[in-house]
Amino acid sequence: MKFILNGKPVTFDGEPDTPLLWVLREDQQLTGTKFGCGIGACGACTVHVDGEAVRSCCYPLLLVEGRHVTTIEGLSPDRSHLVQKAWIKEEVPQCGYCQSGMIMAVSAVMARKPLPPEPQVYKEITNICRCATYHRIRLAIHRLYQ
Ligand code: FES
Repeated sequence: MKFILNGKPVTFDGEPDTPLLWVLREDQQLTGTKFGCGIGACGACTVHVDGEAVRSCCYPLLLVEGRHVTTIEGLSPDRSHLVQKAWIKEEVPQCGYCQSGMIMAVSAVMARKPLPPEPQVYKEITNICRCATYHRIRLAIHRLYQ
């Protein structure tokens, strides 16, 4: 299977039903994307496929053939993405484990045109944070609407 990963062409010769997360972490050594639940529930593994947020632990590689995959490493090489800046300003992370998935989920929503109303973002982001940083996540999202 061939796809574009963070702007570069990638070929993977494994099984087509291999979860994208395995390829990212094990094959491509892109460990910014995390394994949490493995059943599509927590969102720690969120990446973009053609700009849409997907949970890569449950996303078979056959679905990325010919498409563009972006991980937290490819979102912005210097952490200058507007969502990353908001996260830094509000000091969102505690342990940080889930935050790359959070940022990928929020950045996919914020890239939509037209921009969805702020309350809709809170509804759509269903990622789980074990440290319960939800208040600061909301502050960071709110900052994006100022
Ligand atoms: Fe993929 Fe939890 S690890 S949703």
